[in-house]
Amino acid sequence: MDLLGEVWEAFLLMIPAMVANGSAVLVRRGTPIDLGKKLWDGRRVLGDGKTFEGLLVALSFASIIGGVLAAATEEALRLVYGFLAGLGAMLGDMAGSFIKRRLNLARGAPLPVVDQLDFVAGAALLLFLAGAPLGIYGLILVSALILFLHRATNLAAHRLGLKDVPW
Ligand code: CTP
Ligand code: MG
Repeated sequence: MDLLGEVWEAFLLMIPAMVANGSAVLVRRGTPIDLGKKLWDGRRVLGDGKTFEGLLVALSFASIIGGVLAAATEEALRLVYGFLAGLGAMLGDMAGSFIKRRLNLARGAPLPVVDQLDFVAGAALLLFLAGAPLGIYGLILVSALILFLHRATNLAAHRLGLKDVPW
C-alpha cells in the first residue's frame, strides 16, 4: 500500500475512536467506573470523569459509525473494527486518567499529549491485536492530525458548555 493509502486507511480505522472519545463528553455526570474508590496514594483510581454512561455512549457511537463505514465501503469487518477502536479508545482514555491521578492531577487538569493521544494509543493497540491493516506511518500521521485538531474541538466543546475546561 502506498503512503497516502496507508494514511487514509489509518484515518478510516481511527474515525470510530475519535467519535467514541468525542461522544463520551456528552455525558455530564454518571456513575464513576472506579465507583469512587481510592488507591494507596489516597487518590481516586480514575476519578469522576470516567463513567459507565460515558463508556456506553462511546461504544454505541463507535459501533454505529463502524456500521456506517462498513456499509459505505461494503467491508463488513469495519463494524468489528469500529467497536474495537471505540473500546480501545475508552481503555486508553482510562489509562490516561489512571496515570494523571497517580501524578496527583485533579480531574480535568491538563496533561499534554497524554490527554490528546491516550485514546489513540488504546485504539491502535486493540486494532493491531485484531489484525486490522493499521500501518505505523499512517498511525503517526493521523496522531499528528489529531494532536492538531484536538485543540480546536475541545475549545468548541468548552464554548458549547460541554466541557468544563478548554483542553
Ligand atoms: N466522560 C465520561 N465517561 C468516560 C469518558 C469521558 O463520562 N468514560 C465524560 C466526562 O464528563 C468527562 C468528559 O467526558 O469529564 C471529558 O473527558 P476527559 O477529558 O477524558 O476527562 P476529564 O474530565 O478531563 O478527566 P481526566 O482528568 O481524568 O482526563
Ligand atoms: Mg481531559
